[in-house]
Amino acid sequence: MIKSKEIEYTKMHDSFMSFLYESLSGLKSIKIFKVENKWNEMFRKNVTDINEKNIEKFNVQLVTQVIIGVVTFLINNLNIILAIYLIFNGRLSLGMMTAFNEYSDRFKGVLLLLSKLNSKIQQVSVSLRRVGEIVDSESIGKIENVNDKERYNKIEKIEIKDISHTTQSSIEVFKDTNINFYKNNIYLIKGASGSGKTSLLNILSKLIDEYTGEILINGIELKCYSEENLRNKVSYVTQDHYMFSISIRENISLYRDVPLEDIENICKRLNLHELILSLPNQYDTVINDEGLNFSGGQIQRVCFARAIVSNPDVYLFDEITSAIDQKNIEDVLRIIEEISANAIVLLATHENFKFNVPIIECSVMNKRIEANELNLLQNV
Ligand SMILES: Nc1ncnc2c1ncn2[C@@H]1O[C@H](COP(=O)(O)OP(=O)(O)O)[C@@H](O)[C@H]1O
Ligand SMILES: [Mg+2]
Repeated sequence: MIKSKEIEYTKMHDSFMSFLYESLSGLKSIKIFKVENKWNEMFRKNVTDINEKNIEKFNVQLVTQVIIGVVTFLINNLNIILAIYLIFNGRLSLGMMTAFNEYSDRFKGVLLLLSKLNSKIQQVSVSLRRVGEIVDSESIGKIENVNDKERYNKIEKIEIKDISHTTQSSIEVFKDTNINFYKNNIYLIKGASGSGKTSLLNILSKLIDEYTGEILINGIELKCYSEENLRNKVSYVTQDHYMFSISIRENISLYRDVPLEDIENICKRLNLHELILSLPNQYDTVINDEGLNFSGGQIQRVCFARAIVSNPDVYLFDEITSAIDQKNIEDVLRIIEEISANAIVLLATHENFKFNVPIIECSVMNKRIEANELNLLQNV
């Protein structure tokens, strides 16, 4: 009984540790897709389950220890029971008196053991209450400073005005940079490694907010938007793509309200559907060990699908084809062309992609971004 409780507890503890590990590894995706609430809920459930299992294990240990204590006491004190019987019969001798003293000491020992157990119970209950308090504490949400009309408006224009950004290690990435992005356009963000492509996307998705100057979204400063509102409107596929140990369907929907049909459609277009159907539970197959049963390119396509199904106003793609083969890159580019008909698309890349629609090339160089102004004016 104790062993089986110990095994159940250890299994639960191991799975909790894996959950913590992958939550930290995929933290960027959790933040970008604003699924912290779902993750908090899963964390709470994990902690509650593990606590309950711990209490069950503790109770079994406690009962067992008490039974062992009582039985040991009875066995060790048969003599004293006999002595009491003899006292009552008026036949108490000096030897018996000595024995009585000795055994009464043992009795006190058992009582002491029980009182220590009681103090341990108190310690455990205090610790559990403390863990509960920490788990229950809510993070303070950022207050939005955007009026109701703008809150629900589609993002049509992003204006970057004189922004400068310096990293925490004092590297100046942008200085007095200006550029505008308008809807229904694809912007290729090009530039050498370390020129600041990822930093720009991090700023626009509010992963970084250390900049001076202005970033106006539909004319309102980016800092006025809450993370929640912004991330409902902006999908960001980062360089470090990640799959969680949850089902494929959940990996794509990330617990947002996405019909299975939409998930299947995008997977068909990304050449993932057949592969998923060949898995034991198809779209409900749980991914093992950070997606190890998927190749790098397949994981990258799953992360791309994750961004597409939310149908946002702005797409930020960072080197999203680095692990994808040529045939699948074509499919990804055709999807990007389609989504750009109703969105702003920023694509940071080293590659020279062939698009069938006009695109605007922006170069990140000398801490500035230079765009093809002619195209920009045409697209306003
Ligand atoms: N978290 C960070 N801490 C410190 N420096 C960083 C961090 N991220 C990026 N940088 C620095 O900022 C500069 C721009 O990096 P990045 O935006 O990643 O460029 P790119 O995506 O074009 O390769 C680089 O010099 C890089 O070393
Ligand atoms: Mg980069």
